[in-house]
Amino acid sequence: MVGKATLYILFAIVTGIKSVSRKFPSDFKFGVGSSSYQIEGAWNEDGKSESIWDQYIHNNPKMINDEENADIACDSYHKYEEDVEMLKNLGVDYYRFSIAWTRILPNGTPDYVNQKGVQYYSNLVKLLKKNNIEPMVTLFHWDLPQVLQEQGGFATEKIVKWFTDYARLCFELFGDDVKTWITFNEPKQFCYLGYGMDYFPPAMNKSGELDYLCAYYLLKAHAEAWHVYNNEFRAHQKGRIAIVISYKWYEPLLPNVPAFEEAANTNMEFESGMYGHPLYKGDWPEIVKAKVSYNSKKEGRQQSRLPELSPEEIERIKGTNDFLGLNYYVSALVYPAATPQPAGFMRDLGVDTYQPWYWEQGKTSFIKVTPWGFKKLLKYLKDAYDNPEIIIIENGFNDDGQLDDVKRISYIERHLSAILEAREDFGVNVSGYSVWSFMDVFEWNFGYGNRFGLYHVDFADPKRPRTMKKSARYYRDVIKTRSLDK
Ligand code: NOJ
Repeated sequence: MVGKATLYILFAIVTGIKSVSRKFPSDFKFGVGSSSYQIEGAWNEDGKSESIWDQYIHNNPKMINDEENADIACDSYHKYEEDVEMLKNLGVDYYRFSIAWTRILPNGTPDYVNQKGVQYYSNLVKLLKKNNIEPMVTLFHWDLPQVLQEQGGFATEKIVKWFTDYARLCFELFGDDVKTWITFNEPKQFCYLGYGMDYFPPAMNKSGELDYLCAYYLLKAHAEAWHVYNNEFRAHQKGRIAIVISYKWYEPLLPNVPAFEEAANTNMEFESGMYGHPLYKGDWPEIVKAKVSYNSKKEGRQQSRLPELSPEEIERIKGTNDFLGLNYYVSALVYPAATPQPAGFMRDLGVDTYQPWYWEQGKTSFIKVTPWGFKKLLKYLKDAYDNPEIIIIENGFNDDGQLDDVKRISYIERHLSAILEAREDFGVNVSGYSVWSFMDVFEWNFGYGNRFGLYHVDFADPKRPRTMKKSARYYRDVIKTRSLDK
């Protein structure tokens, strides 16, 4: 019998197709992800305080599709043992979840530590370890304690101390078992949608001002938490810590036309540069500084709405990322904006983006399938930041929840392929990959209609039963064989 692999090689020789290995190295790690607000429920149980998401949803139900909320969500607060069984079944190397700050520190600050909250995460972490699943823990996945919001949230320098105190406590409590820490998840989305718009709490709606301020304080908070870990914990806990940034790949709408190339480049510099540049190179990119500046008539001089980083701040922030945590879903085409846009986050760049109708997309998905952009992005990041270790923290596809989710399988397969190609063709150092999401979760403003899960969750049933989708079986096989060959 001639095996599939032999046939493929023969085919490749005859057609001249370059054979890319379909196998992952044995040290490549696979995982799945979730976040506290999106899965835990139990929003006011066992001493947990209100987060900005609790408050926002209860006060503005219309901001969410079908007025749903995450008061119960997947009920993982009560069902974590079943969750771990499911993870075991998938065979993942790690599980990425987040800690709800409000469960551990109901007042936001360490004057009072809620033991029941600590117990919950400690049980989860211990059970994962017992089953040889590595915990990968996000400290902040958007659910800030409401009490801290009332004192200014991320629009005040105070967030730096609040966050580092909270992070230090988490390192103390869980750091013997947790070796991979994520400070912040998707800061750009958090700052833009919550401070520049009103889609997310705290719904400040001050684009071009508060979203830049939020980015500045958040970056400082990240860097300080890194220093706390580095100075006080790294030597004995031997873990690592990084931020997770969401990137699109921006392709010029008209390739080789300078204005379009420049527009795409500007967007890329902004996308990676708001956080990546200060972390890897020091300072915001020149292009961002230039575009975000404005002429203050009142003061008669050029000012920037993006706070300037002082030489001390640049020094303190640079080098504070142990790996590059990357979320990738989709790419876009870019062109110079036809008319000047009003000042605002990203609008300051003078470019526009667009995703053509003919790009492949699921019927009910808001995600177009662009693995080619993923490969280009990986090369870009390698070149921009001197070949950092990259871990794909999120990648996934949404639909309306069917169990026979062949589109999700194809999406995952093609993005894993892009990773293998980027490793082989360009030597990009990608060491791990995590599917978003472990199970169907509360998808922020989209509620429960928009599902990314490998496991289906029945949100109509109070017991929140979970069922394996076809994609979960597919992913389980990939992990088991470490290969994309069927
Ligand atoms: C990014 C976020 O980190 C996650 O919370 C969200 O559910 C997914 N992307 C899908 O939109």
